[in-house]
Amino acid sequence: MRISLDEAIAKLKNGEVVAIPTETVYGLAADATNDVALQQIFTIKQRPADHPLIVHIGDISQVNDWAAIFPETALKLAQAFWPGALTLVLPAKNHVSRVVRGDESTVALRVPNHPVALALLKKSGLCVAAPSANLFTQLSPTTAAHVESGLGEAMPVLDGGACAVGIESTIVNVTADGQWQLLRPGMVSEVDVARVAGVSQQLNPMGVIGTVIPKVPGQHALHYSPRTSLLLFKDKATLIKECEALTQAHIKCAALLIGEGANPGCTVMRLPSQPAEAAEQLYSALHDLDALKVDRLLVELPPNSTDWLAVSDRLSRAGG
Ligand code: TXA
Ligand code: MG
Repeated sequence: MRISLDEAIAKLKNGEVVAIPTETVYGLAADATNDVALQQIFTIKQRPADHPLIVHIGDISQVNDWAAIFPETALKLAQAFWPGALTLVLPAKNHVSRVVRGDESTVALRVPNHPVALALLKKSGLCVAAPSANLFTQLSPTTAAHVESGLGEAMPVLDGGACAVGIESTIVNVTADGQWQLLRPGMVSEVDVARVAGVSQQLNPMGVIGTVIPKVPGQHALHYSPRTSLLLFKDKATLIKECEALTQAHIKCAALLIGEGANPGCTVMRLPSQPAEAAEQLYSALHDLDALKVDRLLVELPPNSTDWLAVSDRLSRAGG
């Protein structure tokens, strides 16, 4: 159910959950200070309670409302990449809801780079916690229609068009002493982060420099999955062979390929051969392939290079 900006704000203030657009993926949003509202996110998503949520803020000045410490490293990253597809995990203030933190001592913060999301945050004065607006372990939505097909037509959705980045934000943990660590790859690459924050010192699990490696709750191996079972291939030739074998065995398949090139004898969707464009279209392509209701999706993995890391990560998780 599509709703207006003012309706979305009214619902959020009333403790209800609404889906909102961001530049990465659509989020399932609730007032980040309202535990009853936050609980509904977990119920709707069927998400385990120990998975913390990202708090979306309208402006960098709000970091200090949530983080106990805002280390220089994190400040530099926020100034360089916000609004944008970078989430910073920082030591949390005591008042931050345990529901948001998933019982961690940290809080994840991000200023989204989407005009509708920013308008909502600024006009309402709210900060909203929002995971991706899909059922737990399923594909993230990059359009309002994806949200409705995943969570039902009754879900109120603020439509902001198709997401321009297309995959979830990069998550970086910054400790009180300014050390940083990549928790989830995204389109802000580790190289981009290092350029601003300096090279990260690898922390060992015993915490040689006084800090323990944060666990990364919610980073399940099987995540971002279409309903159709999915097979990953390092090259087109092997994919085509598998397609022929399956077709001969009367198993219906469809393929997701990167760039142009050889054609298997099944329904094919193609991602652009540039990583940013491919990321933008990735989930939409997987949603469309899923809708074909074939028996197997055959997916070509991107080149093994750092600029494809985030797309490869999502495809590997989708493949389990
Ligand atoms: O692009 C995005 O990040 C989207 C949009 C809506 O902003 N959100 C998103 O949320 O991807 P979600 O719930 O699907 O993923 C949030 C992940 C958690 O699963 C966890 O891995 C990490 O963020 N996270 C959140 N808070 C954390 C914390 N305090 N410590 C460590 N990891 C945290
Ligand atoms: Mg998610």
